[in-house]
Amino acid sequence: MLLENKVIVISGVGPGLGRGLALRCAGAGADVVLASRTESRLAEVAAEVAELGRRALRVPTDVNDEASCLRLVEAALESYGRVDGLVNNAFAIPPLTDLSTVDLDAVRAGFETNVLAALRLTRLLTPALAERGGSVVMINSAVLRHSRRTFGAYKMAKASLLALAQSLATELGPRGVRVNSVAPGYIWADNLKWYFDFLAKERGVTAQQVYDETAATTDLRKLPEPDEIADAAVFLLSPLARAVTGQCLDVNCGEWHH
Ligand SMILES: NC(=O)c1ccc[n+]([C@@H]2O[C@H](COP(=O)([O-])OP(=O)(O)OC[C@H]3O[C@@H](n4cnc5c(N)ncnc54)[C@H](OP(=O)(O)O)[C@@H]3O)[C@@H](O)[C@H]2O)c1
Repeated sequence: MLLENKVIVISGVGPGLGRGLALRCAGAGADVVLASRTESRLAEVAAEVAELGRRALRVPTDVNDEASCLRLVEAALESYGRVDGLVNNAFAIPPLTDLSTVDLDAVRAGFETNVLAALRLTRLLTPALAERGGSVVMINSAVLRHSRRTFGAYKMAKASLLALAQSLATELGPRGVRVNSVAPGYIWADNLKWYFDFLAKERGVTAQQVYDETAATTDLRKLPEPDEIADAAVFLLSPLARAVTGQCLDVNCGEWHH
């Protein structure tokens, strides 16, 4: 049990990777704190965590709001008395438009959730993490590895998140806190399944064909599932990674090499 009796806070518990992170952390022996805005989803995921025999504290949270994040930290410490890990997974889709025409306010809004909120939560939890030799994981993206048209604002946000993780690793390392990143590419979850169904209908082919064509671009000929990406975060949160900080682990079935 890599995370036996550890307490892990997860921001952005959505239907995809956020849920996978909660369940894999619980499966590895952790109690979790679930933080996103939609209470009904927190309740669903908390029930699944309970089925694994671990505790899940649900704290409806807007990571863009300082007071809301303070309540999250207080609730976590009140319930468990400690925090060993934080996964910054919360994510707002930035505008997918060329940078030459993109709306700057939309780019700014993307930075709020995708970069500044990760700094806010990490800062608020640093004293607790420092007491436990804790670990922070930033969920990044394979957009780091390419510069395709329309992904500019997304890449700006995630490149900044990577810089944030690296600088925090240097700043917090002397206090015993590690900070790493996980960069998924495709995630074989509801959103991508919906998109492949849509593409398949447009092209008059099967969704399986779209999957196979896409998977052919990876070394392993498959697309990673949320649990497979979450396991990389479990590793980075665990004592197995006790000498790993400031690093980015790409989890993409070999689509990109780094
Ligand atoms: N999906 C992909 O294909 C893909 C690929 C590469 C990387 N990634 C990265 O993987 C991570 C997870 O992506 P995912 O698509 O699987 O999403 P997910 O984990 O299913 O959900 C993310 C959740 O973040 C929450 N969130 C957004 N704004 C928030 C806020 N202000 N405060 C609190 N929570 C907030 C949303 O929940 P509420 O609306 O309930 O707050 C949303 O459901 C992201 O960091 C993303 O960049 C995803």
